Amino acid sequence: MNITGIKGMNDILPGEVATWHFLEQQAQRIFQCYGFGEIRVPVVEKTELFCRSIGETTDIVEKEMYTFDDRSGNSLTLRPEGTAPVMRAFIEHKLYNQDSVAKLYYQGPMFRYERPQKGRYRQFHQIGAEVIGVDDPKIDAQVLAMLSHYFEAVGIHDVALHINSLGCRECRPAYREALIDYLQERLGELCSDCRRRSQTNPLRVLDCKVPACQEATALAPSMLEHLCPACETHFSQVKNYLQELNLPFVVNARMVRGLDYYSKTTFEMVTNSLGSQNAVAAGGRYDGLIGDLGGPALPGIGFAMGVERLVLMKKTESLPTRRLPLFLAVMGQAASDRAFLLMASLLKQGLPVEMEYAGKSLKAQMRRAAKFGARHVLILGEEELFRQVAVLRDMDQGSQQELSLAGIDTRLLQICREEPNGPTAD
Ligand code: HAM
Repeated sequence: MNITGIKGMNDILPGEVATWHFLEQQAQRIFQCYGFGEIRVPVVEKTELFCRSIGETTDIVEKEMYTFDDRSGNSLTLRPEGTAPVMRAFIEHKLYNQDSVAKLYYQGPMFRYERPQKGRYRQFHQIGAEVIGVDDPKIDAQVLAMLSHYFEAVGIHDVALHINSLGCRECRPAYREALIDYLQERLGELCSDCRRRSQTNPLRVLDCKVPACQEATALAPSMLEHLCPACETHFSQVKNYLQELNLPFVVNARMVRGLDYYSKTTFEMVTNSLGSQNAVAAGGRYDGLIGDLGGPALPGIGFAMGVERLVLMKKTESLPTRRLPLFLAVMGQAASDRAFLLMASLLKQGLPVEMEYAGKSLKAQMRRAAKFGARHVLILGEEELFRQVAVLRDMDQGSQQELSLAGIDTRLLQICREEPNGPTAD
């Protein structure tokens, strides 16, 4: 029986990888411009890190983590998200001693044992960014400006920015109580998950997709009406800066996040084009998290984008494919051996080249060259080899010229690099 991959964990095949590179490179380019430096952290961490940061009563910690004991009996977890590991590294390496503000970005696989469906996987990839050390609402607006700059740069337009404030440790407890009281009176209308959540994590009830729960919570008290003056001012300043930056947004008071570390501003970039998995990016402030993890009491804000979801949205428009500048079509063993050496020399000088190994007919080789979108084909057969020449065919013009084998690599480099859209021109 064939061994297959694991459900919900995808192979990214060569045909798709150009889109991934494009999305990753644009993030690098834009995030670096906003002053972010890359950080790389392990994919496995101590389980306790996620329990303490994401929260014991969240879906992620309760039922979605890949947790196992290593051979020494330590409980480890494949990271379900990137913020907690980045904060752990920030504290462990005392990055706060380097500057009063840290701007870090990261990318890589995350793991959650969720029910796989379009846009939701068990291994998925995030590109994320975090700013530590600033509680000024300007930075909330700047992070959102960077996110929207990114979406523009990668050509994804069908997204809307939803924002909310989840208050702080001063104002959230009273709101939580008000919400519990409201839910208590409607327990009979809630699904079994929400009946349990109404005590352990009542805010999550607002996020339940079951229609009966949505109906029962339609008139639930809103966090925005319970913000303390400091949170209220912070949120209105965030909105003002967004307006000044001409960044459209929708205030969505029912938006709660699936991780407990958030405070004040939270946000999601949502789309209509991905069905139920509609958040392409999400994040918010986590002003208490670094202190909770044993670090200094520094505020933080950040987001992560789901790369698979970006790729799904990008699928509709295909990226321009890069053409192969040169294909070597050969006939006969001696010509094949000569072409092999020529190819090695050209590759070493940075020119992408392919050749035929299977001794196919010239017609079949031309078909293969066309499949690569080859700009030129160099034809080398026994007769050409005897005369120490090769025939170079320009596939776009349909013209041919004979080149002497002496010094042919220099000549080919010249011709192929002259192409304005050739792969070596940029
Ligand atoms: P999150 O909302 O759990 O937040 O995930 C962020 C994004 O990752 C989602 O909006 C979605 O695009 C993608 N994503 C999440 N789960 C899956 C999945 N199973 N399959 C495919 N894509 C998925 C966080 O992870 C926070 N750490 C974000 C953050 C950074 N907050 C502050 N800083």
